[in-house]
Amino acid sequence: MNENQILTYLREVLHPGKGEKDIVELGMVDSVKVSGNNVTVTLVFGKHRDPLQEYLIGSAKAALIRNCPEGTEIELKTVVRDEEKPQKKQNVNDLTLEEVNSVRHIIGIASGKGGVGKSTVAVNLAIALARLGFRVGLADADVYGPSVPIMTSTEGQIPDAMEENGKEIILPIEKYGVKWMSIGYFAQPGQALIWRGPMACNALKQMILQVRWGALDYLLIDMPPGTGDIHISLVGDIPMEGAVIVTTPQPVALADVEKGVDMFRNEKINRKIFGLVENMAWFTPEELPDNRYYIFGKDGGLKMAASFGIPVLGQIPLVQSIRECGDAGEPVALSSRPDSLAFIDLARKLVEEVEKN
Ligand SMILES: Nc1ncnc2c1ncn2[C@@H]1O[C@H](COP(=O)(O)OP(=O)(O)O)[C@@H](O)[C@H]1O
Ligand SMILES: [Mg+2]
Repeated sequence: MNENQILTYLREVLHPGKGEKDIVELGMVDSVKVSGNNVTVTLVFGKHRDPLQEYLIGSAKAALIRNCPEGTEIELKTVVRDEEKPQKKQNVNDLTLEEVNSVRHIIGIASGKGGVGKSTVAVNLAIALARLGFRVGLADADVYGPSVPIMTSTEGQIPDAMEENGKEIILPIEKYGVKWMSIGYFAQPGQALIWRGPMACNALKQMILQVRWGALDYLLIDMPPGTGDIHISLVGDIPMEGAVIVTTPQPVALADVEKGVDMFRNEKINRKIFGLVENMAWFTPEELPDNRYYIFGKDGGLKMAASFGIPVLGQIPLVQSIRECGDAGEPVALSSRPDSLAFIDLARKLVEEVEKN
């Protein structure tokens, strides 16, 4: 390994806000040091915060981990240099959503574990709310598997970034009447993001708070699956009003739902739980639309909701078209198929619960 090789690896890191130029070309690599197993890279940023700073650091680290031999110790440092006009210092910890936006309700869509259809529910719910006439945004904060770009066929689009009154702001992607933002827009296709702990948290915070959402009735946050530190810090830092918990009906899911509920009811967090969505509540084959097969058990979600004293917002069947539409980037909630009605009903019920509070 030598310095030039490292620079080649860093060329894989494109700056989404600067016409897809890479960070080497943009002169953002201040220095590279290789000594034995240790690689130290220093990135240079301007005095006014680059809205994509956390993404770039994370992506640079990911590019090095991908390319360097196993066992390489990688360190990323940053320096600040900017001889231009002095800017008001912007710290990620000082960010507040209200500065640039007016959002009435911020709601986290959470699940104890992955694969229960959290993103499917979040994306279809966002579209259903928009179809009901609400102004809606969705932030896909799933660092482990962002799925909004594929589910909305906006893959490969790069959000614009702009500067306004000395502040850097990222613009969401608009499609299907919803404003979308995803951590996936900042990763190159097929490249997993390797962000953990505080870095992931800061990147997520920026991706939600530093976005020009404008005026919204609902901002949904597709949370990473699980209930670990990232989640608690994310819920603590984002002014979320409450949560919707997505589960499947199996009894084994009960423990996950309990963790999800505890996370929001935790005395430090103390957010509302608007309700539970039972996804894959039954299977209905296309050719037998009136048949219901309770392959994961019947009404498991309803029983869980009752035991935690939270409302059921809806039951969504397991049907092939929901998966197909999701994979094709045209969520079922856009259609006039009967399956889309389940999401429209879900949206109505959520609005009812939110308005009650
Ligand atoms: N109700 C449903 N009917 C059919 N397929 C579904 C349903 N809900 C989710 N899926 C499919 O299951 C897979 C996982 O769903 P996803 O929303 O990505 O889960 P999560 O975000 O919880 O990991 C996807 O392929 C999705 O299309
Ligand atoms: Mg998901």
